Amino acid sequence: MCGIIGVSASTKNVSPIISLGLRRLEYRGYDSVGAALISDGKIMVWKAKGDVQSFLRRFKLEEKEGKTGIGHTRWATHGAPSDVNAHPHLDCSGKIAVVHNGVIRNFAMIKKVLEARGHRIVSETDTELIAHLIEDELPFSSSFFEAFYRAVSRLDGSFAIVALYGEEPNRVYFARMKSPLVLGLGEGLNIVASDIPAIIDHTRRVATLEDGELGWLDDKEVRVFSLTEQGVVEVSREEIRNRIITVDWSFEEANRLGYPHFMLKEIVEQPLAVKNTYDGNVDEPMLSFAASLLLDAKRIIVVGAGTSYHAALALSYYLARTSRLPSLPVISSEHKSAERFVEEGDVVVAISQSGETYDTLEAVRAFKRQGAKAIGITNVVGSALSRETDVVIYMRSGPEIGVAATKTYTSQLMVASLLSLRAAQARGLLLEGEVQELLRRLSLSPEILKAAVSASMKIVGKAPLVGVRSMYVLGRGLGHIISKEAALKIKEIAYVHAESYPAGESKHGPIALVEPGFPVFFVATSDSPEIEGNIMEMAARGARVVVVRPEDLDVHAPEGTELIDMPPAGNDVMLEPYSMMPYFQVLAYVEAVARGYDPDKPRNLAKTVTVE
Ligand code: F6R
Repeated sequence: MCGIIGVSASTKNVSPIISLGLRRLEYRGYDSVGAALISDGKIMVWKAKGDVQSFLRRFKLEEKEGKTGIGHTRWATHGAPSDVNAHPHLDCSGKIAVVHNGVIRNFAMIKKVLEARGHRIVSETDTELIAHLIEDELPFSSSFFEAFYRAVSRLDGSFAIVALYGEEPNRVYFARMKSPLVLGLGEGLNIVASDIPAIIDHTRRVATLEDGELGWLDDKEVRVFSLTEQGVVEVSREEIRNRIITVDWSFEEANRLGYPHFMLKEIVEQPLAVKNTYDGNVDEPMLSFAASLLLDAKRIIVVGAGTSYHAALALSYYLARTSRLPSLPVISSEHKSAERFVEEGDVVVAISQSGETYDTLEAVRAFKRQGAKAIGITNVVGSALSRETDVVIYMRSGPEIGVAATKTYTSQLMVASLLSLRAAQARGLLLEGEVQELLRRLSLSPEILKAAVSASMKIVGKAPLVGVRSMYVLGRGLGHIISKEAALKIKEIAYVHAESYPAGESKHGPIALVEPGFPVFFVATSDSPEIEGNIMEMAARGARVVVVRPEDLDVHAPEGTELIDMPPAGNDVMLEPYSMMPYFQVLAYVEAVARGYDPDKPRNLAKTVTVE
């Protein structure tokens, strides 16, 4: 995790740019913060455990002077959050400062070697070792850059690194290996950062870096090199120029726009996000190309992590139902289970909002090594997933800042529906008229979402889970898939233990926990009328039964059931998630706020999970 930024500017003081960058990157990690500036040839460092606001207030960073600097917001991996473990880290001489995102796998071995060579290591982090490693290479190198790349080539793992060297007061060094890093190319200023929001207030010209690339920037130029077995080879300026994209969204679009939290804003934004996903993909040739790959596939594997795994389950469900294509859903971090049988002719569909989730990328890489083709579904243009897959479908939901996935989940569902529809069409399972009718129905999803968000808002201020510490969320078929995402939202945002289970399976064990008053939520969908039996079973044991359903779905529930009526979805499984998901998102949000938690920064979580 972690957010990093490095800036060099000719006329400006860079401390306000770093301060703003830290605020923009805080979603990537928020347990400690730090910055370093080169001032009069000396490296000055400020760092502390805590959040960005307190850090900026305490050190008045914006008032500090320096035309070159780096910043870091941390999500701890090696060593607990503390002042000393906060980045930047210095070498023994205090001339080299390093910030880093990722994990150095050969950390223990490097530490031993460095200690044996007399380096004084003061923190528990793997990052500090990088500063000492560069220092160690310096006497054997003809330039700082050589020492930098020699050190980087000794690292094993996933990392994005940004470094300063006091004797080169205009330069910022950087390296990328499996952790995100982008360049912002401005006038009299250049920036390197983990993500675009840290850059766009200063320049809209952004270029991504590839894994294994490193280099340096100053106020005038950026030089990028590729690390090879023989040393480094410069990446041509033309190649970098070709990579430049002009970012056309403003931070204002990603800003809270008056909402108390990003999560709420993003829940409310869902109709627009899903409309953009629909409009941007309905006639997208890549979607049809991806569908044709699925048709030719020997086997289809769908992977994702967290919410994106739940979208993968939905894709698998729609592929079976609409396109009659079997597929195997695999949790990204469990991809080894499938690795043994994946072979040429297979196709993996990887879903990741950020396109940078380590486990998902590793799954794609492993399956590709076995000969599979890969389709990526992501929200982030230029992300690692978009570059490492054979075909990419963009969700186009706009930036999502809240840590919990909300609008990107419903956008992922839209891609899943469109993809399975195109696959069914390509298989000849649907006539042209039927395709058009299904597309027309799908185009109603923004309206359904709008009505669902506004119906859900009625619970704001009511906190229906007051006093609840544990609950079930049950469903069958599509309802089970929705219930998994519902339970995840409640767990991660409201910190209530919410367990999703297939409703039919709940009588094979979980029902033992049910005692009078125990909350059991049901997600009722049109594919599974059998759920009524499961509702009766729970009611008979005195559970507090809550049934969430689209209001046009008939569900017979016993007296005493709390019935949550959501907008009609025409008994259509492609539309039902849009009718019901907002209720659970708002429920998690409302409960978190009522309990005094910050829904935008759930504890122990980060937006982009770039560690194994
Ligand atoms: C939950 C959530 C996470 C992510 C997961 C994968 O609200 O946001 O579970 O879904 O970390 O992230 P992406 O989609 O970026 O691969």
